[in-house]
Amino acid sequence: MIAEGEIKRQVRDFYNSVGWKQIGEGVYQNARYEDLRPVSREYIHGCHLRVARFLPLEGVYLLDAGSGPIQYPEYLEYSKGYRYRVCLDISILALKEARERLGDRGLYVVADIACLPFKWGVFEGIVSLHTVHHLPPGEHKEAFFGLYALLKPGGSCAIVYTWGEHSPLMRILDRPIDWMTRLLKGLNRRLGAGREAVQPLENFKPEAKELIRSPGTFTYKHDYGWIKNTLKPLPGLDIRVWRTVSTKFLRAFIHRKALGSFCLRLLFWLEEMAPRLFGRIGQYPLILFHKSENSSSALERSDK
Ligand SMILES: C[S@@+](CC[C@H](N)C(=O)[O-])C[C@H]1O[C@@H](n2cnc3c(N)ncnc32)[C@H](O)[C@@H]1O
Repeated sequence: MIAEGEIKRQVRDFYNSVGWKQIGEGVYQNARYEDLRPVSREYIHGCHLRVARFLPLEGVYLLDAGSGPIQYPEYLEYSKGYRYRVCLDISILALKEARERLGDRGLYVVADIACLPFKWGVFEGIVSLHTVHHLPPGEHKEAFFGLYALLKPGGSCAIVYTWGEHSPLMRILDRPIDWMTRLLKGLNRRLGAGREAVQPLENFKPEAKELIRSPGTFTYKHDYGWIKNTLKPLPGLDIRVWRTVSTKFLRAFIHRKALGSFCLRLLFWLEEMAPRLFGRIGQYPLILFHKSENSSSALERSDK
């Protein structure tokens, strides 16, 4: 078993030397985990914008815990009404890149999300996207409760997490995704068809190909039951859908010629109708909590 400190070193080194290296104009190696094809764009755009709905519209400080380089334009929406976006990340390269985008509107802090270096109760809004799962399993609770403590009374926090292999829906679809991916790759090799199944690599720098193939880094995902139980004391806890389907699913089953955009519009509509069901069975939940205006500090004292 790797020690917790070693896990963090690995994660930090990965993002400094691979994940946040640009492989094309404004495109990072990390984007290999996203579906960048036009057919999925509208759906992914809608999912990104969901986060903003649950944050106070304005404030002085918005914390982005595990900000990365603020890689997608939609991310800028979250801090539009704030004086400062405080970008916290374990990777210095992430923060240098974030500064390119935010300039003086940002404040940049190299730190660990499981050991947050801020005064409690100062942030009106907090986001943390695709980051907590990089922590060793024993530190997830600390991170969630630490973020709660930083909220100003009246503030809200939105965290995008992943159920990974615990997503019941994606588990059912695991085999079909594999079959379809293999079929499309075979077709691609033989007929030059099915090209949509792979990321459009043509515009990337030639030296990027190696980076794209680099293995990822440490992740650990708790399941729905664990999160629901552990985070029960957090006021206003709500687990809704951020996005139901994985990138692998999109690449395997969503194609322009097979009414891909229409299917995704339908899925988005279903997610809007039943956000908690899809948040539970799908791939990526949006975990929300809120600090009431008259919150006492008992939770911060006893549950951390
Ligand atoms: C998958 S990326 C997501 C970045 C960004 N939130 C996004 O959605 O594009 C995960 C980010 O979390 C950062 N990270 C990983 N472990 C961390 C930790 N213990 N403390 C702070 N940041 C961490 C990584 O450096 C990386 O920038």
